[in-house]
Amino acid sequence: MDDRFALKSEKYSCSDYKKLTKPEKCLLTTVGFFVIFIIYLGSNLLATTGHVCMTEKCIRSAAHILENIDKTIDPCDDFYKFACGSFIKNTIIPGDKATVSTVSNTRDKIILQLMNLFEEPYHDNDPHSLNLIKIIYNSCMNTTKFRKEVLEFVKKEFKNLGGWPVLEHNWNERKFDWENLVYRLKTTGFRRTFLFRVAVDTDSKNSSKHILTISQPSMGYVVLNRDYNDTLVKATYNFLVEVAVLFGADRATAVTDIKDLIDFEIELADLLVSNEEHNNIFQDYNPSTIRELQRNYSSIPWLKLLNSYLFPVDFLDLGDTINVMQPEFFKKLDTFLPKVKKRTLANFIFLRILRDLLAYLPEEFTKQSLKYIKIVFGKNDVMPRWKSCMWEAARLHFAVSHIHIKYLFDKSIKQKVTKLTTDIKESFLNTLRQVKWMDPKTKKRAILKAKNMKSYVGYPDEFLEDKNVEEYYRDLQLNPNEHYIKIHLNLSKFSHKKKIQKLRKLVKKPYWVEQARTYDVGAFYVPAENTIELPAAVLQDYFFDPDRPQYLNYGAIGQIIGHEITHGFDNDGKQYDKDGNVIDWWEPETTRTFNTKTQCLVDQYENYTIPEIEMNLDGVRTLSENIADNGGIKIAYKGYLKWVGRNKIEPSLPGLPYTPRQLFWISAANIWCTKSKKEFLKKFVTFGYHSPKYFRVVVPFMNSDYFGRDFNCPLGSPMNPKNKCKVW
Ligand SMILES: *[C@@H]1O[C@H](CO)[C@@H](O)[C@H](O)[C@H]1NC(C)=O
Ligand SMILES: *[C@@H]1O[C@H](CO)[C@@H](O)[C@H](O)[C@H]1NC(C)=O
Ligand SMILES: *[C@@H]1O[C@H](CO)[C@@H](O)[C@H](O)[C@H]1NC(C)=O
Ligand SMILES: *[C@@H]1O[C@H](CO)[C@@H](O)[C@H](O)[C@H]1NC(C)=O
Ligand SMILES: *[C@@H]1O[C@H](CO)[C@@H](O)[C@H](O)[C@H]1NC(C)=O
Ligand SMILES: *[C@@H]1O[C@H](CO)[C@@H](O)[C@H](O)[C@H]1NC(C)=O
Ligand SMILES: [Zn+2]
Repeated sequence: MDDRFALKSEKYSCSDYKKLTKPEKCLLTTVGFFVIFIIYLGSNLLATTGHVCMTEKCIRSAAHILENIDKTIDPCDDFYKFACGSFIKNTIIPGDKATVSTVSNTRDKIILQLMNLFEEPYHDNDPHSLNLIKIIYNSCMNTTKFRKEVLEFVKKEFKNLGGWPVLEHNWNERKFDWENLVYRLKTTGFRRTFLFRVAVDTDSKNSSKHILTISQPSMGYVVLNRDYNDTLVKATYNFLVEVAVLFGADRATAVTDIKDLIDFEIELADLLVSNEEHNNIFQDYNPSTIRELQRNYSSIPWLKLLNSYLFPVDFLDLGDTINVMQPEFFKKLDTFLPKVKKRTLANFIFLRILRDLLAYLPEEFTKQSLKYIKIVFGKNDVMPRWKSCMWEAARLHFAVSHIHIKYLFDKSIKQKVTKLTTDIKESFLNTLRQVKWMDPKTKKRAILKAKNMKSYVGYPDEFLEDKNVEEYYRDLQLNPNEHYIKIHLNLSKFSHKKKIQKLRKLVKKPYWVEQARTYDVGAFYVPAENTIELPAAVLQDYFFDPDRPQYLNYGAIGQIIGHEITHGFDNDGKQYDKDGNVIDWWEPETTRTFNTKTQCLVDQYENYTIPEIEMNLDGVRTLSENIADNGGIKIAYKGYLKWVGRNKIEPSLPGLPYTPRQLFWISAANIWCTKSKKEFLKKFVTFGYHSPKYFRVVVPFMNSDYFGRDFNCPLGSPMNPKNKCKVW
């Protein structure tokens, strides 16, 4: 069976090949080389001819692939099961996790490396920023400090804020007003927004400016299930009752109050505008003055609330402009709010605050949290303390990135990945040039946008300099002798201030300096900047390694880069121009064709049911990610062909009867190998903007003609269907 895939896959006729790369001269030599290569494979000399790479890196790569794949599965039936079958069979999800993947393994490794550095004792001559990290990590780790006093501290704070009704015997409804409560929160470090979200965003019509934005809140599970009999709604209810009781509430009061609260949350969730209702960015752009807000949604004292949000950095007046993302939501909220009991609102606000603080309260609270996350995520254990303390320390993202780059990252990688990125981008440009369904005007603008797209690779150079980091944290003082919760609140105040300070300033370009987290595994396209970002963490392990064959790199990091580039041209990204401003640069007829093409993807993904959770994919919510997945892999593949055109085909891997092109696909699938608990998967499918990993492999691969050819899958087989959806 293995032979079949090794032998027949590289049969390209010249005309097939011409579609893929541009310079025809290279092309012929390449094909010639391939023919020779096929002969070698055909004579079954694979393991003995020397056309197998036997370097240490190749052996390790082969071993890793062998650990993942399940050779008993036919790649033409189900490529994910083929490429990740053994990973899934052999991976055991530890109690504190709901999912384990190639991505989470790399993330864990980095966190462990960083911990090693942060556990070291203080040195007097350490930079301030490094000391801050150590203070956070070490105080967070000192559990002897997590005692009763912490609870007393929070109780006292709540009392100062007017008292949490569920605790108070004679809570005075008449004396309460939620605006005043929120107003008083401004100096505490507690959460400041409740019924809606407030943020300083980039102005989508002028990406060099910031704009204060209000939008609907994100709600938890209660939102989606709505049914009081639902397991998750019940779990939430029970959890909140127990938390209130632990905090000192009388059980009977807690039971009635929390029931009331859940009803309220369900009603609030009913006001939310859905993705289907708001499916373009123009709908989200409604700048208005605060005066207009006060007039249109008069049950909310906007000026006072927004100013308490901005305290102590900024101050607005009635003429100032803010953006309202979902006016429909705020209209409904305006009529809904006056009908809500004050007691319910107060309970809602206090519980929201408390839920943010649970991790800092005594152990009884952790036990309740654990019961809850068991039901919601399927975890059996909370995250180990050291790890949650690492993520706490990572709130100083600039300082932690600086340390990460300085001590743990091979800086020569940056240059190497930048080269690869250029290749993939060039390959996307070629795709654009060849696309038949775009009118010339739109195509020209699209090419300009792609050319103007910048790539940030590894880390911003500013991150290397000690003095930049020191400057950034100069104002932050943390006292290592205080309870950790106080340090946590100081940190919240600090990062809030940093966010607010941007409001009147021009957007700093590159924006990356503000927000890069080099230690977190991920990659981004930022539409408002028209840039792709590839943090250092994703440039290692199975994503990229300069010393292994390039087919593995193009399949892995190449695919990720292709994915991010394609985001610039998905259903959201297409609404931004080359400078990151929301402007419709598409001719109407080309938008119509684009929509037909994307509808094909919507239908294709919606057609799938995930048997173990009996849920269907939401093809609309995941559309932009699906477009990026489908485009990304093709661009990466073409990028690889281009690389082959300039170089020669590298040898295969030991012990694996697959051609370089087949290994490209295997490497591409391997980065998505994931094993998850059912509960996690449910949550992922309900809320996520990405399709589950299985579909991120299977669907884009089956939509690509190259895949079917490389594995010689009969037309009409599951991985090579007759009807393929194609946008890019
Ligand atoms: C933990 O905190 C307590 C109280 O502040 C302190 O006495 C103790 O020395 C700390 N332990 C460590 C290991 O730092
Ligand atoms: C964007 O805002 C900046 C700063 O206010 C201004 O100078 C520029 O002209 C604006 N650009 C557009 C396209 O409105
Ligand atoms: C919840 O379950 C109870 C008893 O099983 C039933 O009477 C009630 O109608 C159910 N409520 C909803 C909203 O389904
Ligand atoms: C406020 O109301 C006016 C008149 O109905 C409407 O034109 C405007 O769009 C509304 N603004 C917001 C932000 O809701
Ligand atoms: C919080 O910050 C203030 C002022 O910046 C500082 O005096 C205080 O010691 C800090 N508290 C803690 C617990 O770090
Ligand atoms: C959905 O699935 C059905 C049955 O498997 C198939 O006939 C149909 O073509 C699929 N539709 C799409 C859009 O893939
Ligand atoms: Zn994406």
